Amino acid sequence: MGQPKVTVLHGPNLNLLGVRQPDVYGYETLDDVNNALAETAEKQGWDISCFQSNHEGELIDAIHAARLDGTLAIIINPAAYTHTSVAILDALNAFEGRVIEVHISNVHKRESFRHHSYVSQRADGVIAGLGTEGYQAALNAIIKSCV
Ligand code: DQA
Repeated sequence: MGQPKVTVLHGPNLNLLGVRQPDVYGYETLDDVNNALAETAEKQGWDISCFQSNHEGELIDAIHAARLDGTLAIIINPAAYTHTSVAILDALNAFEGRVIEVHISNVHKRESFRHHSYVSQRADGVIAGLGTEGYQAALNAIIKSCV
């Protein structure tokens, strides 16, 4: 059997991490986040695939691909699609592994339109407000729970 696999999905505007509203999202870039996750995954003997898209359909395609490529768990920050996308929820409902939803900011402390998440109806765990460390917390939880 090959290595266990985790897929990390980042939604719209997260390609601008580090330069977009750093007071809210911090100064780390998306590459910094993905490289740190890859380092942790590699140390623990996990395969990892990280993908960002500004397009809802591409994120859905990536969730469909994860159903078939041996992915045991998805870490997803759906960004603004969190609050709007039934389609991403439906795609995640068709995925059988674990799902952890991550938000860099504490969405509950922000505008009321950010308080509702469609994805939370599927997520096994939700992390918000820990900054980019939230992704590491999600990965560590997955690694611990899948051994
Ligand atoms: C976010 C919070 C969302 O409300 C927002 O649209 C984002 C990022 C976060 O990581 O805090 O783009 O998901």
